[in-house]
Amino acid sequence: MHRKAPGLLGSLKGLIARRNDVVRAVDGVSFEIAEGEIVGFLGPNGAGKTTTLKLLSGLLYPTSGETRVLGHDPWRREHVLLRQLSLVMGQKNQLWWDIPARETFLLNKEIYEVPDAQYRQTLDDLVDLLDLGRVLDVPVRRLSLGERMKCELATALLHRPRVLFLDEPTIGLDIVAQKAVRQFVDAYRRRHHATIILTSHYMDDVQELCERVIVIDHGHVIHDGPLVEVVATFAGYRVVGMRFDRAVDQADLQLHGHVAAFDGISATLHLPRDEVSSRAARLLSSFPVADLTIEEPSIDDVIRQVFATGRGAASVAGADGPSTP
Ligand SMILES: Nc1ncnc2c1ncn2[C@@H]1O[C@H](COP(=O)(O)OP(=O)(O)O)[C@@H](O)[C@H]1O
Ligand SMILES: [Mg+2]
Repeated sequence: MHRKAPGLLGSLKGLIARRNDVVRAVDGVSFEIAEGEIVGFLGPNGAGKTTTLKLLSGLLYPTSGETRVLGHDPWRREHVLLRQLSLVMGQKNQLWWDIPARETFLLNKEIYEVPDAQYRQTLDDLVDLLDLGRVLDVPVRRLSLGERMKCELATALLHRPRVLFLDEPTIGLDIVAQKAVRQFVDAYRRRHHATIILTSHYMDDVQELCERVIVIDHGHVIHDGPLVEVVATFAGYRVVGMRFDRAVDQADLQLHGHVAAFDGISATLHLPRDEVSSRAARLLSSFPVADLTIEEPSIDDVIRQVFATGRGAASVAGADGPSTP
């Protein structure tokens, strides 16, 4: 990245003596994805998600290490590979702004040399799955964000790629459109046995579509495994809800664990995972408890905490670790 001093003088100096800063966007990232798998890629802004997808699509060249997609090195950009993959970025348009999506589809049909019959059938499928009937012939600039995103997906899929990289495909969409895109991705994967990497800020997307997630932060993979394990890995606590027969004192509760919510007659505590049963027993004997529940924290909460506190399980447990009575 070029470093420039502020102002006009800075710009002039920059013309003569360029100074470069090195940004390490991804570092030692390593994973394998099986054919037909759909993997969620989670991480805060600037974690390295887009960079990874660009490396896998052949848009960036890794300074070290190796990438392989369908057995090919993406950077070589061999047609046989490019015809089988697609990168869709929620923040970038592929469609031509002033013409209807159908015309861009035709252009892509020629670029990818899709045979007529296959084109017609795929287009019919996509129109059906995405409910595009009424929007195909309207200039793209007049479409809503959700309609445009659906057309973006359709144009990226006309050549029926076997590998699909979806970079925040639901960003900025309303709940209904988000859901439509999610259902479509799922249907496409099942129909064509496609392999998909999906990045999203919305846990709903990942929760609904992916069994496996890769969590990346500061260019490093900090978790790779089943989505359900994210909670156990990053949340050192479980959530204990209590309702009391009569009002209790918050200060007394705090002696037993971190009080996440309290309204006099009910409370939510976070208790260390490995001490939940003994501490819950102590709470039952010390307070007039009418009702007690023990639950896992929601994945949404856990991920938000991982990203808010920086990195790794230790900091999360530390931030929320209850004081010992
Ligand atoms: N072309 C670039 N020039 C300079 N820095 C970049 C460039 N692309 C990405 N970065 C930096 O690399 C890091 C990772 O970026 P990115 O992969 O876009 O993250 P994400 O998609 O997870 O938000 C960020 O710190 C970003 O600022
Ligand atoms: Mg990104």
